[in-house]
Amino acid sequence: MLEEIEQLQEEAVAAIQGAVDTVALEEFRIRFAGRRSRLRAIMSGIGDLSKQERPAVGQAAGKARKTIEACLDQRGRSLEEAARESSSIDVSVPGRRPMSGVLHPLTRVAQELVSILEGMGFTVADGPEVEDEYHNFDALNTPADHPSRDLHDTFYLKDGRLLRTHTSTMQIRVMESGPPPVRIISPGRTYRKDTVDATHHMVFHQIEGLCVDRGVSMADLKATLTAVGRCVMGENTRIRLRPHFFPFTEPSVEYDFSCGLCLGDSGLGDSGLGDSGLGSDPGGPLCRLCKGTGWIEIGGAGMVDPAVFEAVGYDPEIYTGFAFGLGFDRIAMIRHGIDDIRLFLENDLRFTRQF
Ligand code: DAH
Repeated sequence: MLEEIEQLQEEAVAAIQGAVDTVALEEFRIRFAGRRSRLRAIMSGIGDLSKQERPAVGQAAGKARKTIEACLDQRGRSLEEAARESSSIDVSVPGRRPMSGVLHPLTRVAQELVSILEGMGFTVADGPEVEDEYHNFDALNTPADHPSRDLHDTFYLKDGRLLRTHTSTMQIRVMESGPPPVRIISPGRTYRKDTVDATHHMVFHQIEGLCVDRGVSMADLKATLTAVGRCVMGENTRIRLRPHFFPFTEPSVEYDFSCGLCLGDSGLGDSGLGDSGLGSDPGGPLCRLCKGTGWIEIGGAGMVDPAVFEAVGYDPEIYTGFAFGLGFDRIAMIRHGIDDIRLFLENDLRFTRQF
């Protein structure tokens, strides 16, 4: 009997130590230490043994049970540990790059322009893209028969409202909301029924600027636009104002920045647009960017028309102001060498991910 117990213990210990996983281990637990195991049978039969045999067999069986249970415990722990180790992070495996978004090139340019203008004391005023005729036209001194109000040029909604054709609407909304002084910019989307091609879109983007106070002059306008041009297109950028007409400014101008690519052949120096990708063509007849004119049209501007001040209840005898509109699709195109404005709005990730 004692020999059998010893054999059983040896067999059990060997089996348990070689258990490959927790399932095998559980099988051995049942076989060697379970209720129907041989060892249990021996233990429950001890009472039937002779008095001389009983203590030795009892002791040997008890010891065998303890050894087997300790062995089961130990093997269980080491299997658990091995499982934990195999599922833990292998720091030597190359990482998977998480998907990260990028800012749309138009957003980036808008943010840059906004931060330039904020640095000059302007604050951002946000407004609706669905507007009424009053804010888009009437209050901006645009007569009822002005061609821009034509159904062919403006998207009207069924209820008579419209998609704003410019961000100048924000001049009115801001001045309606409080007294001067005012120094705001308003970036955003604008809509016109333009035929879509590589350089025109029915959706485009502007930043409106408005500065109203006592003694604001055209010189302030020119200085502001010059500073913006230099920041965004390079420090040697020059600005040109051309007489124009807008209903809401008097006098009105269109303004251009000097071409940063061919430098207008006027030796203006480096504009900082070196990698725009458009590339000037010294041997060719015309610069692709400015078409050989040396200038790039950026937007319209002027001194706020007294009729606009009257519409919002400002006294034009006391206050003067300048306003400008700046189309920034063009600037983003120049920046990144993009030759088709439609790419901005197609939502093609192969395009947007490049920036
Ligand atoms: N709103 C004009 C446009 O979309 C641009 C413009 C011209 C804005 C003169 C102004 C301005 O603020 O004073 O063509």
